[in-house]
Amino acid sequence: VKKIGVLTSGGDAQGMNAAVRAIVRMAIYRNCECFLIYDGYNGLIAGSSKIIKAKREDVSGFLTLGGTAIGTARCMEFREYEGRQKAALNIIKSGINALVVIGGDGSLTGADTLRSEWPSHVKDLLKDGKISESDAQTYTSLMIVGIVGSIDNDLTTTDITIGAHSALTRICEAIDALQSTAFSHHRAFVVEVMGRNCGWLALASAICTGADYVFIPEDPPRGEDWETRMCEALQNSRKAGKRTSMIIVAEGACDSNLNPIKVEYIKEILTQRLQYDTRVTILGHVQRGGSPNFRDRYIGTIQGAEAVEAILRADASTPSLIIGTLENKITAQPLKSAIIFTQQLAKEIKNKNFENAIKLRSPTFKK
Ligand code: F6P
Repeated sequence: VKKIGVLTSGGDAQGMNAAVRAIVRMAIYRNCECFLIYDGYNGLIAGSSKIIKAKREDVSGFLTLGGTAIGTARCMEFREYEGRQKAALNIIKSGINALVVIGGDGSLTGADTLRSEWPSHVKDLLKDGKISESDAQTYTSLMIVGIVGSIDNDLTTTDITIGAHSALTRICEAIDALQSTAFSHHRAFVVEVMGRNCGWLALASAICTGADYVFIPEDPPRGEDWETRMCEALQNSRKAGKRTSMIIVAEGACDSNLNPIKVEYIKEILTQRLQYDTRVTILGHVQRGGSPNFRDRYIGTIQGAEAVEAILRADASTPSLIIGTLENKITAQPLKSAIIFTQQLAKEIKNKNFENAIKLRSPTFKK
């Protein structure tokens, strides 16, 4: 019998609950056992009190809930070998032989590390007398399946990560609201949006709200005097009759020397050089809260169901997988491909190879 553990990890995202619900329901439908692991990797490290066998009704009402009902954490202990070893012991003690991790790139990297270290965890646990010889023979490998739950839309193995659509909807509503007050006062607004090192939320919201200027980490303003070029662009649209200026800044935005571009700095430029009456709005966690929109409920559900199917199809040679949706088709690719992508992108930005960074991002940005 397959015994599937499921946890959510890292920043919560709208639609994670839909995925958890689908995994539990599909697992039961396919005659597997399913275990809810509470509070992310913290729960896996804590053990039996946080690893609870799920019944069908335990996930009733999950579909429409925001956040993650089984809790999440940014677990520091899991970053260390010893922490992962505790997790491995609890996985074996609970009889779990496949694990679904719903989270962002950090959480999925942690999952892949656990999988690659698995034989040495089993060896160490046997040597320390924490598991029996027969356990060691039963648990020779651990199947891991990742589902990308993150508002950031920062992974390449899927067109859109679970939560990104709801966050974008919330950002657009907030900017629309700002537009009306900006219009009344002829004001400029500088709005910071989330996304960590990814500019998708900023770029997509700028397109959807008709913003005047946007800053994203992957494509910093080039050249020395970008501030002047920004001012000219804003002045031109005012000359063309616009009463407001809307500037969107991704929280990870930087200039071409990798110095952060902060909303307060943009405000200072607009106030001092253009004498625009300017206000700053940092949208913050409101972007991540609240109930998921239909897209996140939908992709959360179909990806959760597919995670169970992928586990049932897998054999000992199957690598860790990541479930995604590419061009409207559900996919299961090696988890490694997502992790290598994240590392490559970080390297290109660090080395200031922005053309390469944009090329790497382009499947997500749909350039
Ligand atoms: O990864 C999701 C995210 O919301 C990022 O956009 C943001 O940088 C970060 O998490 C905020 O994390 P926390 O909730 O721990 O402050």
